[in-house]
Amino acid sequence: MSNLNDSVSFVLDDKVVTEDFRNSALRPTTTVLNYLRSLPLHKGVKEGCAEGDCGACTVVLGELQPDGTLRYESVDSCLLFLPMIHGRQLITVENLKNDRGELHPVQQAMVETNGSQCGYCTPGFIMSLFSLYKNKNHPSREEIDDSLTGNLCRCTGYKPIIEAAATSCVHHGMDQFSRNEPQIASLLKSIPRESLQLQTGQQLYLRPAKLSEALSLIRLHPEAFVICGATDVALRVTKKHEILKEIIDISGVEELKLISDKPDVLSIGAGVSLSDAMGSLENNFPALYEMLNVFGSQQIRNVATFGGNLGTASPIGDTLPVLIAYNAKVVLSNSAKRREVSLDEFVVGYRKTARRPDELITAVVLPKMRNGSIVKSYKVSKRKDLDISTVSGGFRIDLNDRQVVENIKLAYGGMAETTKRALNVEKFFVGKPWKREVVEEAMQIFDGEFSPISDARAGAEFRTIAARNLLLKFWSETIS
Ligand SMILES: Cc1cc2nc3c(=O)[nH]c(=O)nc-3n(C[C@H](O)[C@H](O)[C@H](O)COP(=O)(O)OP(=O)(O)OC[C@H]3O[C@@H](n4cnc5c(N)ncnc54)[C@H](O)[C@@H]3O)c2cc1C
Ligand code: FES
Ligand code: FES
Repeated sequence: MSNLNDSVSFVLDDKVVTEDFRNSALRPTTTVLNYLRSLPLHKGVKEGCAEGDCGACTVVLGELQPDGTLRYESVDSCLLFLPMIHGRQLITVENLKNDRGELHPVQQAMVETNGSQCGYCTPGFIMSLFSLYKNKNHPSREEIDDSLTGNLCRCTGYKPIIEAAATSCVHHGMDQFSRNEPQIASLLKSIPRESLQLQTGQQLYLRPAKLSEALSLIRLHPEAFVICGATDVALRVTKKHEILKEIIDISGVEELKLISDKPDVLSIGAGVSLSDAMGSLENNFPALYEMLNVFGSQQIRNVATFGGNLGTASPIGDTLPVLIAYNAKVVLSNSAKRREVSLDEFVVGYRKTARRPDELITAVVLPKMRNGSIVKSYKVSKRKDLDISTVSGGFRIDLNDRQVVENIKLAYGGMAETTKRALNVEKFFVGKPWKREVVEEAMQIFDGEFSPISDARAGAEFRTIAARNLLLKFWSETIS
């Protein structure tokens, strides 16, 4: 790789901090949470679950934008490896007081609404509120709830915290961070956006800055773990205590973070975070937008990517069924060429994909829909928010003007070892009127399509009934 750098630099406490991995106890997979807790003045950040579920470890990252301003996003520091914050500002609860020692408006509001009892969750809540403060003025109740989905509080209850959000996020995000922004921006600009190569005793961590470098690296290191948001892979480190020997972290490749919106197709780079993608999806791909609305939490969506969700090939990955319904394609590239694979054909077995060892997922391509097609997505889970699917569905139907089915796609998650379409049911519908009696008849042949497993989330029978009923729900939501 060109311009290799073997240290990681970021802004913390208004200074550029450089961590050299050669002579330190740090590993490239040291999480930002563990790094912060090793410092004397940043112990406010807490570990609750170490798997992205409780938000006690929430910090905010400031990222330089092309126009020279900063964007602030909440993230779970327990799932972020330290090199992933190279070139960014790391903001913790200790940074929120201003120069005069006064509390930040979100902290003051938490005091005034009695938003804390035992206090263990409080720094995480404060950081989520701070992110809300910087991004929304007079947030709606829905926006407040969404910003707090990733934070768990066992004793205060949410009412005073929601009140703190509503009363404090009213200053257009103005605070000492806004005033300091030019200085922080120039510090961030001073950090070269070079490729990183961190070699420690047991680990090689490669963080290319360019796509061409990433593609050469994957050819040279086909066994390496590719990571982008790391919200899936980090659990191997935090929960299973694995030492990942070779890692290619593509989160620094700007070419993978592009969205191209053309009249016929929307193309989303594999490294675009789910939060960033949502803005482009709301109008043209509402069923995918709805699915992302109930995907993890804001902290997860701010780093998780489409490339990563498809890369897991998880049978309960939430984007795959609805992407299949939209006839989407995944773009796979190696150093020599790129190819497009229909998402119907991308997953070839349990957690196995059609990606070759020298390829990366570089984008997802969504054809814009023709008039009359209807796509809907469904997620059945124990909780509405921050839960994984028990059963999910991505359905599409094209009806002619006599309400007869011309095309139908019924893609399910959670019903087999891969995302799977109900092909016999689809065949049954084609040429038939889209009527309740026909749907009820189809529900009878449904049982032969899948043999779902029983696990802690649900029994096989529940899954089959839920999947069948989703079909009826789809019908009820699509009749004119
Ligand atoms: C608290 C929590 C909540 C979650 N909620 C949901 C949810 O609601 N729905 C859901 O579906 N998932 C959920 N997940 C799982 C995970 O967040 C998603 O699968 C996410 O999209 C993964 O993206 P990532 O960029 O973080 O992937 P990473 O962890 O970086 O990578 C995941 C896999 O994809 C591969 N990969 C990543 N990028 C590429 C690429 N460009 N080319 C080739 N391979 C690649 C990696 O090698 C790895 O195998 C949740 C996870 C957590 C921790
Ligand atoms: S420690 Fe629970 S989300 Fe990070
Ligand atoms: S104040 Fe105790 S967990 Fe929230």
